[in-house]
Amino acid sequence: MAMQQITILGSTGSIGVSSLDVIARHPDQFRVFALTGHSRIEVLAEQCQRFVPAFAVVPNAEAASQLSALVPAQTRVLCGVEGLIEVASHSDTDTVVAAIVGAAGLLPTIAAAEAGKKILLANKEALVMAGALFLDAVKRGGATLLPLDSEHNAIFQCLPPGFTGVSGAGLSGSGLSGTGVSKLVLSASGGPFRTTPIEQLMTVSPDQACAHPNWSMGRKISVDSATMMNKGLELIEACWLFNVAAADVEIVIHPQSIVHSLVEYVDGSVLAQLGNPDMRTPIAHALAWPERIASGVARLNLTELAALEFEPPDAVRFPALTLARQAGESMGDAPTALNAANEVAVAAFLTEQIRFPRIAAVVAEVMAGWQGSELACLEAVQDSDSRARRLAQASVAGYQDEV
Ligand SMILES: NC(=O)c1ccc[n+]([C@@H]2O[C@H](COP(=O)([O-])OP(=O)(O)OC[C@H]3O[C@@H](n4cnc5c(N)ncnc54)[C@H](OP(=O)(O)O)[C@@H]3O)[C@@H](O)[C@H]2O)c1
Repeated sequence: MAMQQITILGSTGSIGVSSLDVIARHPDQFRVFALTGHSRIEVLAEQCQRFVPAFAVVPNAEAASQLSALVPAQTRVLCGVEGLIEVASHSDTDTVVAAIVGAAGLLPTIAAAEAGKKILLANKEALVMAGALFLDAVKRGGATLLPLDSEHNAIFQCLPPGFTGVSGAGLSGSGLSGTGVSKLVLSASGGPFRTTPIEQLMTVSPDQACAHPNWSMGRKISVDSATMMNKGLELIEACWLFNVAAADVEIVIHPQSIVHSLVEYVDGSVLAQLGNPDMRTPIAHALAWPERIASGVARLNLTELAALEFEPPDAVRFPALTLARQAGESMGDAPTALNAANEVAVAAFLTEQIRFPRIAAVVAEVMAGWQGSELACLEAVQDSDSRARRLAQASVAGYQDEV
């Protein structure tokens, strides 16, 4: 394997830290080219001292001067979205780990696609909010898009060789015909509230929502897992990545998070990818693809496993799933609105402005009145995103007196 120069967008987060852990195990194969952070400047400084990247990126000039005093002389500090775009598309980097959370990751990830990079995509929100434009950029730039989300990475591993999708064919009805694949099955843990009495959900705290039973993740995705909006976003992500319709993707709850997802074939075979719930496995898979490297993840001991359980998701407990499926069926800018409304609602819950069940209620209100349109350009994405955020803020305001 040739030496890869790697940019990590969002290196201070959960995926970023796991990526650096895998990279550090293979100094002969990977070199860190650029690291980026947002609020955790000290963590970014420590990462720069350890990996000595050519660039580090922070949100603004103030953070840049703070970081500059803490990093090695070889590391140039940039700031803002322009800095993120510069390191994502720089001619000296070949691999970009897209691990910024939420809509903020869109522009640098698109820049990496247009520049023809190998993109390891964790930032599912970017694909959800601008799927067609994102995949156009991948095709135009000749980029390679590999899924880091454990479920999509599992499906990628179980699909037949040469399956079209990862290089971005886009959504056009069902991409399954003629492939021998009959269905994709996304597994979901069900999050921390899978069995909590529904009436108690009005009083759960942000910390309880972020206490995921199997995975250690950032707070936004942890809340998304608790509402199962995460699985809804993943459904839309799967449609774009694998060129399938929403109806081709089934969601099944699997509380142990050992079976990461499955592919069903027309002959009745079902292929699954199993492993301990640790993001270093999909990260190592995508970093080395099509080869394999060690990830540091503990081996799965089948004889020590308890029973593996599967159950259908409860639509009453998890209304976000239905909202996401509807957005995935209508496409256009419906997923953009869904994602934006969800980001506003999750932020409001995490700052204790609204109760947990109101996250889905806010998204439902925005989607109920949403006049869908097609997304011809990135400005249209930004317009739909801003409009949905304004509607979601108004909806949040209506629930604030409950807190
Ligand atoms: N964690 C997982 O296991 C997992 C699994 C699958 C997919 N994903 C996806 O991966 C992405 C990252 O998740 P995570 O759990 O790693 O989140 P996280 O721990 O919250 O990390 C988010 C990263 O994005 C940076 N960031 C936040 N806001 C930003 C902004 N406005 N501009 C630029 N950078 C910003 C953060 O910087 P600071 O920390 O310095 O503020 C941090 O580096 C999400 O899209 C998530 O859905 C995560």
